[in-house]
Amino acid sequence: MTEYGSNYMNVLAKPTELEAAAPAGVFVEEVMSVQHYTDRLFKFRMTRPASFRFRSGEFVMIGLMIEGKPIYRAYSIASPAWDEELEFFSIKVPDGPLTSHLQKIQPGDAVLMKKKPTGTLVNDALIPGKRVYMFSTGTGIAPFASLIRDPETYEKFDQVILTHTCREVAELKYGEDLVEETRNDPLIGEYAREQLVHYTSVTRENFPRTGRITHLIETGKLFEDLGVPPLDPAVDRGMICGSMDMLKDTKALLEKAGLNEGANNKPAEFVVERAFVG
Ligand code: A2P
Repeated sequence: MTEYGSNYMNVLAKPTELEAAAPAGVFVEEVMSVQHYTDRLFKFRMTRPASFRFRSGEFVMIGLMIEGKPIYRAYSIASPAWDEELEFFSIKVPDGPLTSHLQKIQPGDAVLMKKKPTGTLVNDALIPGKRVYMFSTGTGIAPFASLIRDPETYEKFDQVILTHTCREVAELKYGEDLVEETRNDPLIGEYAREQLVHYTSVTRENFPRTGRITHLIETGKLFEDLGVPPLDPAVDRGMICGSMDMLKDTKALLEKAGLNEGANNKPAEFVVERAFVG
């Protein structure tokens, strides 16, 4: 058995060290790469268990052993269902029970993952339409990083509009790299070059486009910039991921435009999920 102290050095273990200590029914995976974007954001990729299946857009519980106890938080899987590895995009909360430790992981370290993925931001929860809007703020872009790399999304919708709003310009970098890589991808690049639109804005720094997405919807600037008609429940679909307040305010605007909220067992015009942090 491995001993876990309060020092983070003891929290980060190798997969072989954790196998014995890990709770039953949990995968112990190995970190493959880590990229830090700002002092608040980082991405990591890890091995994917051979038996693990999920639908693009779902989330899973990710954890570390901290002082002998597993601590988990919900994380959207940012990689698509076909990918051999699993990708996650995380916030760093200085005193966060999990992320204060998770932000220090390095390739070769072990990460725990519960076996059951779930979530509402999936293509199955939307009825077919012409255009799908993926509204995201901050790390809320993660489930859409999965969906924009899934061919099914482009088969279901003619146009895929990914909006990403962050406080600062540097926080847009993950999404910018993601979209560029997706457009150059041999598997889905052709779809993405034709059908994917990336629409960014910043709220606390100078940038060519500033303001919250809710403001850009309300004023009609979003539609004007994109050269498309305002939201129409007959053809437009929406997916929303961000903070609780962002979800509430964006959802209210979609409902005002006549779109109804859907779920896995009752597909409709839009779906909502919170970006899990901590
Ligand atoms: P703002 O800078 O005006 O608060 P956070 O990191 O707090 O989740 O914020 C990420 C982005 O989401 C920020 O640009 C923030 O704008 C924006 N935001 C925060 N609250 C809302 C809301 N209720 N509706 C729309 N956007 C929001």
